[in-house]
Amino acid sequence: MSEARVSPRGAERWVRGHPWIYRSDVIEAPEAPGVVRVRDSRGKFLGQALLSPRSEIRLRLLERTERAVDAGWWQAAIEGALVRRRGIDATAYRVVHGEGDALPSLVVDRYDRWAVVQLLSAGLETMREQVLDAVQSVVGPEGILLRNDVPIRRREGLDERVELARGTVPERVEVREGGVKYHAAPWTGQKTGAFVDQRPSRVLAGELATPGGRALDCFAYHGSFALHLARRAGEVVALDVSADALARGAENAALNGFTNIAWREADAFEALRAFERGRERFDTIVLDPPAFAKSRSAVPQALRGYREINLRAMRLLNPGGTLVTASCSFHVGREPFMAMLSEAAGDSGRRMVVRRLLGQGEDHPELLTVPETGYLKGAVLTAV
Ligand SMILES: C[S@@+](CC[C@H](N)C(=O)[O-])C[C@H]1O[C@@H](n2cnc3c(N)ncnc32)[C@H](O)[C@@H]1O
Repeated sequence: MSEARVSPRGAERWVRGHPWIYRSDVIEAPEAPGVVRVRDSRGKFLGQALLSPRSEIRLRLLERTERAVDAGWWQAAIEGALVRRRGIDATAYRVVHGEGDALPSLVVDRYDRWAVVQLLSAGLETMREQVLDAVQSVVGPEGILLRNDVPIRRREGLDERVELARGTVPERVEVREGGVKYHAAPWTGQKTGAFVDQRPSRVLAGELATPGGRALDCFAYHGSFALHLARRAGEVVALDVSADALARGAENAALNGFTNIAWREADAFEALRAFERGRERFDTIVLDPPAFAKSRSAVPQALRGYREINLRAMRLLNPGGTLVTASCSFHVGREPFMAMLSEAAGDSGRRMVVRRLLGQGEDHPELLTVPETGYLKGAVLTAV
């Protein structure tokens, strides 16, 4: 097997628990991507890694021992990840969360009897057949779809595309999440077909919704929060800018027999302003916007955006009402997010109490040494 050598600083990263070694810490490495043995500058064996010759992240640690990274290795690693998901009360969830499952650059999501896979590094791409075989044998899906249409692959010198890898995968998959059903769209939906990372927060929002009250789901996508809210609330307004997502939302409502959700194609910023002007009130509001900060430099502007929607939502709450608010911007950490909420609460003239802190589901494990694996943060606030 090919070998790479890394600087003392690179070696130290692995010792300290970070699985990536950057280009600048690689002394020498083969020109072709693949799995390589890695040694430090004195020749000591450090482990085996995925090599991406064109990426800034040059090496991703896979295995610290000499054990062969072969079909059996992938199978055992994916099996381990699946075992850690036992007990999840849903048929759509993440089976492998990359670095968080010690399988860097690999994402595997299960949608009932189908699997969606993302191979996010050049090194991993060379393992494609072994990885797919392992997913097939461990998860046992009727089909595997590769949702490799992600820009991050460009940095690896890889193309972006959606490809059927095994069996057949339908356009829509009916899945269950707690007490609601919804249709995921593996081929065309955002991410791998649904936002499975918010699963526990959605279930919680449904439990906290004021019975018989009025609820608002901004940034609703295909209604994943709205459906949970509709189980208890008297009336739900679900809004999103994507007509496609809303159309699926309406189908999802029908799937559950809910007739109390109004679907509105609207910009959430404008809609919140209009609700405020119209003195409308809600008992439960969910804010689950897209990542406003795609880079570090965008953080100040993103925080202004988060502050505006949260401030308006707080003002729209009836006394005793609940705000479920989240940010999936990795660059906006939990502390700045909570500071923003506190500023918004101060400006809203409302006393807001923190009832819960939220994060991504346990099927999206966060590796403490890789902050990128934990991007979703949120809170449940009550107006008292
Ligand atoms: C993070 S996703 C929401 C996921 C959803 N809450 C769920 O749990 O499945 C963000 C959504 O915001 C929508 N969106 C983006 N900008 C928007 C805007 N200005 N107003 C309303 N919706 C917007 C996107 O179409 C996307 O569906």
